[in-house]
This record gives sequence, structure tokens and C-alpha cells, in this order.
Amino acid sequence: MGATGAAGGTLVRILGERAFPASALSLYASARSAGRRVSTHLGDIEVRELSGDALRGADIVFFAAGADTSRRHAPGVADAGGVAVDKSSAYRMDASVPLVVPEVNPAALGRHRGIVANPNCVAIPLTIVLAPLQRAYGLRHVTAATYQAATGAGLGLAGELEAQARDDAAGLAPTAHVYPHVLHGNVVPGGWTMQGDDTEEEVKVIAETRRVLDAPELAMSVTTVRVPVAIGHSAAVWIELEGPADPDAVRVLLRASPGIAVVDDPAAQRYPMPRSVAGSDDVQVGRIRRDPGREHGIALFFSADNLRKGAATNAVQVAELLLRET
Ligand SMILES: NC(=O)c1ccc[n+]([C@@H]2O[C@H](COP(=O)([O-])OP(=O)(O)OC[C@H]3O[C@@H](n4cnc5c(N)ncnc54)[C@H](OP(=O)(O)O)[C@@H]3O)[C@@H](O)[C@H]2O)c1
Repeated sequence: MGATGAAGGTLVRILGERAFPASALSLYASARSAGRRVSTHLGDIEVRELSGDALRGADIVFFAAGADTSRRHAPGVADAGGVAVDKSSAYRMDASVPLVVPEVNPAALGRHRGIVANPNCVAIPLTIVLAPLQRAYGLRHVTAATYQAATGAGLGLAGELEAQARDDAAGLAPTAHVYPHVLHGNVVPGGWTMQGDDTEEEVKVIAETRRVLDAPELAMSVTTVRVPVAIGHSAAVWIELEGPADPDAVRVLLRASPGIAVVDDPAAQRYPMPRSVAGSDDVQVGRIRRDPGREHGIALFFSADNLRKGAATNAVQVAELLLRET
């Protein structure tokens, strides 16, 4: 579901890259895209608008078409004996639905009852970075400021950013329709729905990170920001640990942790960046150093491809674990 979107389109490509052992694949989107043909590892497939009980009989249904679509159709998939692997926010905080990052809490998958939720595209890389530190040192407080790419808000904002870049280059006034502000040449600390004084994204990152790490009381401070980057979410993170940690030891620990590539030679201008992580499934981590402002503080910076590890790759890994389970 949502096969023509930013996350869904990437998912279809990743199924092919990983030679996902599907015997049949059906692609769905809204009426707008019905009839389009998409190239997949099982050949060209026509996108259809979902009607009736078309999803009945499917073993696995990936949902990447927004929370409303998931709420409407995922329970039917589960009732019919399939598994809905949901990329939307619909079930992430539902206690009866596991919220899974395979590198962090694969055991949670065992409790599924036909729906599995995937965290948001910042919470996935953040938990991959925090989990080894939590195990080795304990976490006392986490502060994060994000730098989130346009594709994180879907193909609509990605297209708008490209048009704004063209307009700016041509000396024309760029316009904003999808987002409240022109993103090109700008940095926007908003654009999400507000929940009180916090953006909905900040609330999600905190709640989902706590849930995946099974640390409901973890103290966290998050500011989410949209930047004029096509692909790749980044974050500056300050972590207060329960005990002392040497940056070199943290580097060794993270280098040995699943899903992480340490890129940390700032003197040689090597550090994580969206341009270098785009197209990869690793979370790049660098700028690892002591935080002089806090006891047992470590500061670092990460970048991850929001469409791959932040969305599609995580969902496909979940499905691969489901296959191993059966
Ligand atoms: N982008 C990311 O980095 C990211 C990361 C994590 C999670 N997600 C989640 O993935 C989902 C999709 O986000 P996106 O960024 O891929 O958005 P997008 O680029 O705007 O794509 C949305 C997709 O959903 C389809 N769709 C929309 N309304 C539908 C409806 N009523 N019935 C059936 N299909 C419908 C669209 O079909 P048409 O082509 O026909 O319009 C399109 O395929 C969201 O729940 C989002 O929270 C996205």
C-alpha cells in the first residue's frame, strides 16, 4: 500500500535488491496512480486502487500510505491470517502491537498479533545509536536536534524543494504549497502539527525511542528541524550516561554494533553527512567526543537515509524476520 510514494517506492526497490522471496507482489496506491506500471524484481506490475477485500489472502502487506489507510485496512489483513507491516504512525503506541527495530529489539516481534509497527524515521537511527550505549553504560538523559530531509515529508515536499531550487536559480520568487515556508535556502523548525508547545514529530521521537529501548522513563529533549536536503535525516545528539565513558571506547563499541558505520575523522573532514549516507542502510555516526557541559556526557552526530533505514529497509528486515519465524 502506497507503492508510488517516497517510502513505498523505495520499499519496492529494496524488495528487489534483497531478493525478497515473494512468489507474487501486488501494488496499491490511491486512484490518482491506478494504472501506472512499476518495475519490480518480479517484473512490471500495474498499480491498483484498493477495492473490496483484495488484501485477503496476502501473507505480508507493507503499509506506507498514511495512518488513516493503515487504520482502515491493517486489521483486516491480521484477521485474515496475514501480517501488516506498518510504516505509518497508526499503531506505534498501541501496546498490543510491537514496535520493532530489528537491530535493537527483534524479540518484540514474537508478540505480534498480525500487525507490526515501524518507528518514525528519526527514532529508528536514534535507537540504533542509543541501544549499545544503554546496554554498556546506562542512559540518564538524551538531547537531540534534528536536520530532516524533504523526502521525510513525502514526494510532495521533495518536488516542491526541487522547484524552489530551479526558481531561485532562475531569479524567480519560489513558492510554497506543501509546506508553510519555502524550504530551499532555509531551515524550518516546524511544519509539523503542534501538540501543545512541541511538534508532533518531537512527541513521536521521544515516545517511540522510549518504547523501542524499553525505557519509559528516559529523560529526553528533542527539537525537530526540516532542512533543504533531498534525502538523509541527521541529528546532533548529546547523551548523558550513568557512568564515565571514554570517546575512544564509545567509537569501538559503536563500530561493533549492528547497523552502524562509524565515520569519524573530522581532521580529514570525514563525518556523517546526508549526501554520503543516501543510498546506504547504515546509520553513519561521527563527531564522537566528550560533552564538556555534562557529567558522563558524550556528544555525537548521525546521518541515516530516511527512505531506506528510516523507512523501507526497516520494514523489509521485519518481514525477513517474520519469514524466519515461520
Ligand atoms: N518518507 C519517509 O521518510 C517516511 C519515513 C517513515 C515513515 N513514513 C511513512 O510512510 C507513509 C507514506 O509516506 P511517504 O513519505 O512515502 O508519502 P508520499 O510520498 O506522499 O506517498 C504516499 C503514498 O500513499 C498513497 N496514498 C495516499 N493516500 C492514499 C489512500 N487514501 N489510499 C491509498 N493510497 C494512498 C499515495 O498514492 P498516490 O501516488 O496515488 O497519491 C502514495 O503511494 C506515511 O505513513 C509516513 O508516515 C515515511
